[in-house]
Amino acid sequence: MKNIITSAIFTLLLVSSFGVKAQWEISEEVKNKKAPNEISQELALKGKKLYNQACVSCHGTPTQADGLLPTATDLGSDKYFDRTEGEAYFQITEGMAAMPGFADKFSDEERWNIVHFIRSYNPESTVDISSIKTINYKIDVKLNDSDKSIVATISADSSVTVSGVKMEFFVKRYFGNLPITAPVVTNEEGTVTVAFPNDIPGDAHGDLEIIVKFENSDLHGTAEFRKNVAWGTHTEYVDILSQRTMWGVGSKAPWWIIGIYFGIVIGVTLTILYVVFQLFLLKKVRNK
Ligand code: HEC
Repeated sequence: MKNIITSAIFTLLLVSSFGVKAQWEISEEVKNKKAPNEISQELALKGKKLYNQACVSCHGTPTQADGLLPTATDLGSDKYFDRTEGEAYFQITEGMAAMPGFADKFSDEERWNIVHFIRSYNPESTVDISSIKTINYKIDVKLNDSDKSIVATISADSSVTVSGVKMEFFVKRYFGNLPITAPVVTNEEGTVTVAFPNDIPGDAHGDLEIIVKFENSDLHGTAEFRKNVAWGTHTEYVDILSQRTMWGVGSKAPWWIIGIYFGIVIGVTLTILYVVFQLFLLKKVRNK
């Protein structure tokens, strides 16, 4: 009987906590709040990056209805289009129930950029969201052997400008990449030219790997170019692992370590044999 009452109370509690759906309470004033900046492709792109970090797991890709939480609205669906930007901003800032608030996690400006991203799905939006999704950046690099100059051009398969992007130039080393210049900003054509230094060691043939990439940016993501060229100084490598050294292993270990090692192994083996032999003698004495 007691059990029945307990489970009845438990069921009641469960039903009441799930059955009552909380409602957003948003005042007219909040709904009419306007974003500090006009919506633009650039801001929506920044918002997209944040959305993919913090929201996509629950809400899914807008329009795809593929979020993990069924109760989390697809923000690119017509179910959401009638909200104002002030409303979206409030919901992202404050959160409700399973929807976390992001006031601490993102700055004001970042939250507005997320709003811009969401709202670019609205059919009335002036931002072409399809172009945001499909931009592919590419780095074309010309390596001029005559004067060892590197001419790098960023191209994008859409109208997004690629001037003013920082490009970085490296040579690959054993542990990480060695920058050969400070980052250089692309001109109006999206191009930069840098001179390769004359004193960078390559291998025995002067070969080294050149790496050109964007400085990691919210807007442009990353793209990379790598190529081997013989622009380095010729360097004979001494393979320290092929010599008998302190850090050598196996047959390349120093003689004295090998000596000590076998000394210990033989010593321990002899000791064990000695003990066994003594036990054997003991047994013999007892049997007499
Ligand atoms: C832990 C899962 C989770 C995460 C992460 C999350 N949300 Fe939500 N979100 C929800 C749920 C669940 C709801 C529905 C709340 C309700 O109405 O009960 C919701 C509701 C919303 C709403 C209101 C939808 C409506 O129908 O009114 C907006 C807008 C929203 N989320 C935006 C975001 C944004 C932007 C992010 C990332 C910055 C985000 N959410 C991250 C779970 C999540």
